[in-house]
Amino acid sequence: MQVNLVILAAGQGTRMNSDRPKVLHEIAGAPLVVHAMKSGAALGPERVVVVTGVGADAVARAVADWDEAAFCVRQEEQLGTGHAVLQAGDILADAPGETIVLYGDTPFIRPETLEAMLEARRHHAVVVLGFEAADPGRYGRLVTEGEILTRIVEFKDADAATKAISLCNSGVVAADTGVLMSLLAEVTNDNASGEYYLTDVVEIAARRGLTSTVVRCPEEETLGINTRAQLVDAEAAFQARARAELIEDGVTLIAPETVFLAHDTVIGRDAVIEPNVVFGPGVTVESGARIRAFSHLEGCHVSRGATVGPFARLRPGAELAEDVHVGNFVEIKNAIVEDGAKINHLTYVGDASVGAKSNIGAGTITCNYDGVNKHRTTIGRGVFVGSNTMLVAPVTLGDGSMTASGSVITEDVPEGGLGIARAKQSNKPGFAERFFDILRAAKAAKTKGH
Ligand code: UD1
Ligand code: CA
Repeated sequence: MQVNLVILAAGQGTRMNSDRPKVLHEIAGAPLVVHAMKSGAALGPERVVVVTGVGADAVARAVADWDEAAFCVRQEEQLGTGHAVLQAGDILADAPGETIVLYGDTPFIRPETLEAMLEARRHHAVVVLGFEAADPGRYGRLVTEGEILTRIVEFKDADAATKAISLCNSGVVAADTGVLMSLLAEVTNDNASGEYYLTDVVEIAARRGLTSTVVRCPEEETLGINTRAQLVDAEAAFQARARAELIEDGVTLIAPETVFLAHDTVIGRDAVIEPNVVFGPGVTVESGARIRAFSHLEGCHVSRGATVGPFARLRPGAELAEDVHVGNFVEIKNAIVEDGAKINHLTYVGDASVGAKSNIGAGTITCNYDGVNKHRTTIGRGVFVGSNTMLVAPVTLGDGSMTASGSVITEDVPEGGLGIARAKQSNKPGFAERFFDILRAAKAAKTKGH
């Protein structure tokens, strides 16, 4: 079945008290609008249309970053949710099948819920996602007769009896694309808000003899973000769920409440995550790897048997092969580290490759940036890099080579060779003794003078 998504994201979100459009605020490292897109992505949508308005360009960039194929249409004036969906009409004009409307500020709708809505669509023209609200507040109320949804009444337009209904509208709607657009064409703004309500399609469908129904979901799932406080709560809810899922999948989290996961973190079975680890977006950790305390990872891959940290930072493009050891105060960026290599202490490896079984001494730095351009460092297999080596890129250390501690390596070191680039040591016998005698005598003379 062909499915299209329309994601409403034109609103300002005044209550966020922010210069940023509401849907660009993030949960688990992804903008709210991306969470909404991810909810729908599981259905393999044919077309995804995001309706933008406030901060349209910035929202469009975030949308394209996540899904290049998604369309953005601008709703110049926010005349209501119905008007917003109509903006997608041109793009969906030749797209058959279903359309599901989602809100860009409602990040937690589960794919299973959307599938249940599509299933219900087999028997009804319009399917609305509803929930039993603990506090129905200002939500639209769903008026039902048996399994039939007869109409949706906005809070502002509701009488006391309707306000007493606790079954509320989440905003998510599924209908045949052509039918939805033709129903919307009949929506007017003759209501308490003077807006074109998407919710009016239910009554218009009924007039045409088409039925609507409600699919119910838990209230947490339809949680919309309107304030910073709700964003904080949503982040906490996301983290709690993501941690519980990892634990269920066989990952060891020693202190789960101190581990922060991104929306796309993947961790294999029997991996161990020690306390106080932060995952930014784009991290995969294979089975049996260990991420030690206070490490920060983003955009990187950690293979089976590798250990990272404590206090390590893996930045985008860090690829650790099996059994690699990365220790404390090590930063790795855009670098491939091959099997069994060890980078144990106080090191920066950027724009580099490190061959299998190489050992990088404490204090090593790849000097990858000349102030204008970035350059690569290539370290072969089985290389021993002496402590406190500066590797001034572009530079290559051949297989089985070594560098002397404290060297500033500016030229390639041949396979099996030693690179040494530091001042030659000379010893001056007795110098220290004589020197300290002079200093002490000078200090004593000064003290007497006072
Ligand atoms: C809407 C529903 C209400 C439901 C509630 C759930 C209507 C008329 N009402 O009310 O029944 O209980 O959501 O949260 O649909 N938007 C646009 N363009 C517009 C107007 C809105 O893109 O012109 C977007 C907003 O950015 C937001 C979403 O649509 O993401 C919902 O709009 P909002 O104004 O929050 O609707 P509510 O009044 O809360
Ligand atoms: Ca709202």
